[in-house]
Amino acid sequence: MGGSHLLTLTRLGVGAFHIADFDVFELANFNRQAGASVSHLGRPKVDVLAEMALDINPELDIQRFPEGVTRENLSDFFTQVDLYVDGLDFFAFEARRMVFAQCAGQGIPAVTAAPLGIGVALLNFLPWRMSFEDYFRLAVQSEDEQIIRFLLGLSPRMLQSGYLVKPESVDLANHRGPSTPMACELCAGVAATEALKILLHRGKVKVAPWGLQFDAYRNRLVTTWRPGGNRNPIQKLALILARKQFMQVRNTTQGAPGAPNSPLESILDAARWAPSGDNTQPWRFEIVDDHHFVIHGHDTRDWCVYDLEGHASQLAIGALMESIAIAASQFKRRCHFHRRPDSPEERPVIDVTLSEDPSLSPDPLYPFLPLRSVNRRPYQTRPLTSREKSALEASTGRQFQIHWLEGWKPRLDAARLKFHNAWLRLTMPEAYKVHRRVIEWNARYSEDRIPDRAVGLDPGTLKLMRWAMGSWQRIEFLNRWLAGTWLPRIEMDWLLGIFCAAHFAIVAREPLRTVQDYLDGGRALQRFWLTATSLGLQLQPEMTPVIFSGYVRNGIAFTTNEPVRREAQRLAEEFERLYRSPEHIVFAGRIGHGKPATARSLRKHLQSLQV
Ligand SMILES: Cc1cc2nc3c(=O)[nH]c(=O)nc-3n(C[C@H](O)[C@H](O)[C@H](O)COP(=O)(O)O)c2cc1C
Repeated sequence: MGGSHLLTLTRLGVGAFHIADFDVFELANFNRQAGASVSHLGRPKVDVLAEMALDINPELDIQRFPEGVTRENLSDFFTQVDLYVDGLDFFAFEARRMVFAQCAGQGIPAVTAAPLGIGVALLNFLPWRMSFEDYFRLAVQSEDEQIIRFLLGLSPRMLQSGYLVKPESVDLANHRGPSTPMACELCAGVAATEALKILLHRGKVKVAPWGLQFDAYRNRLVTTWRPGGNRNPIQKLALILARKQFMQVRNTTQGAPGAPNSPLESILDAARWAPSGDNTQPWRFEIVDDHHFVIHGHDTRDWCVYDLEGHASQLAIGALMESIAIAASQFKRRCHFHRRPDSPEERPVIDVTLSEDPSLSPDPLYPFLPLRSVNRRPYQTRPLTSREKSALEASTGRQFQIHWLEGWKPRLDAARLKFHNAWLRLTMPEAYKVHRRVIEWNARYSEDRIPDRAVGLDPGTLKLMRWAMGSWQRIEFLNRWLAGTWLPRIEMDWLLGIFCAAHFAIVAREPLRTVQDYLDGGRALQRFWLTATSLGLQLQPEMTPVIFSGYVRNGIAFTTNEPVRREAQRLAEEFERLYRSPEHIVFAGRIGHGKPATARSLRKHLQSLQV
């Protein structure tokens, strides 16, 4: 942060600086730091920045502290200083406490503008007012606690939370977090403005416990007031919640591997965001060499009633293959897939070879691989435009067509079908076992399951469902005496069935028969879903009717419950009336414009997917 501060303040006309930094420029600084460029790699930051500042104003009086701020040079660093601008690393707590204590002791005003998300959080500490330590209360706290207190103190409203594609990239325990150049530039602008006001005694300066946070991504500006700082009761409550969340993140990220370090690893790292039924991720990777790896697929028929023929897993593996091809294009590599003919249907083994092709253009769907996510919330009912529909229809290629159910009547019919199908799901013990296994409770994110907050229920119904899921007896009791399936079915199926722009089915030209047909279908569904994401559309698969009607058609005994079997028979006929040619249907769902999901499934780390 310090580099941007220095250059902005230099242009503003500040004539003398003390600058401290013990670091040299490296590649990891390039996304945000002033002075980070190829010609400066390996050079001390103080020297580079001093030269850049002198290039703007050769008359600058600039004193360098290449060893950083230390106990030994602290008093020199602050000699004849009018204002301190904080640009210390987020995690440099010891240095920060020492520096702010010195400012307080010497009566030097201090400005801290922290880059958080795509925004800035500002706190000013002025002489004889609330001190840094009084506000943050970091002394004698464990490091974890200091991290939480500092974060919450800087941004009591946490405007920056909630819009990360990969929330696990905030890995506070390992001192890692995402950063953006926009945040740094905003900080430099805000800090220089505060410097101007403080140094020239002009304008209104907000002083701790007042703070300010602006988040450019969320278009929000808030003024915060926490008298007592972290001792404030509101703040104490927020700290309790933050500790819980922080521990959660820590548990999921401990030992998390670092960034991918070869094109092949980058390709797999992007492709692992492919969707799979219940986020089962039925694949493992074996890397043979830089140009060859193997996908070891498996299906979940031994425990999952939605996958008794392995089709759901095969579709997911197809989606993975398409994701690999899209990611490989980014590295000018063409993919060749070869499914080993001797590999069993339940465990398909696919060899993937990558060949370089300089003429290959990057697939425009690449950025949407990690952004695509299921959304189980109501959408707007505004119909899709013809441009949107044509883009979606073109996305799957000529082997497939899209069957649309649009307008009120077809949507109501689809909603009714969904509602009745949900009854099957919620009353058969075979599905109960699956739901118990695939939902992660009290979670907004889950690496290997579906977090409960992403299933599409309001907090009250979710609580009831969580209780009911404790045992099959509870479910039976609720279903028998309290019409227990009604509430979730209305919320998750009927309402969602109506609140969308359309329902759709991806339909193959030929009936689906072989594993290859489903892999090809999976590739098409991934292109369709990614195209929807690129158009800003939300999507939720609706596969229960497809799956159960398939069981009825193929005579698969999927339940021991006789009433469920009878109802499934009836619904298969209704499904055929509505969607036509069911044996050609690859994938079905609902689609429309709406707010993005705020909870989602994450993925296992690449390392744990490797064999
Ligand atoms: C073949 C297949 C079938 C799916 N069926 C359903 C479904 O019937 N209902 C649903 O809400 N989500 C369904 N999903 C969505 C997955 O649960 C979701 O993709 C997965 O949990 C990963 O989450 P993400 O898409 O947000 O990354 C399905 C996904 C696939 C690939």
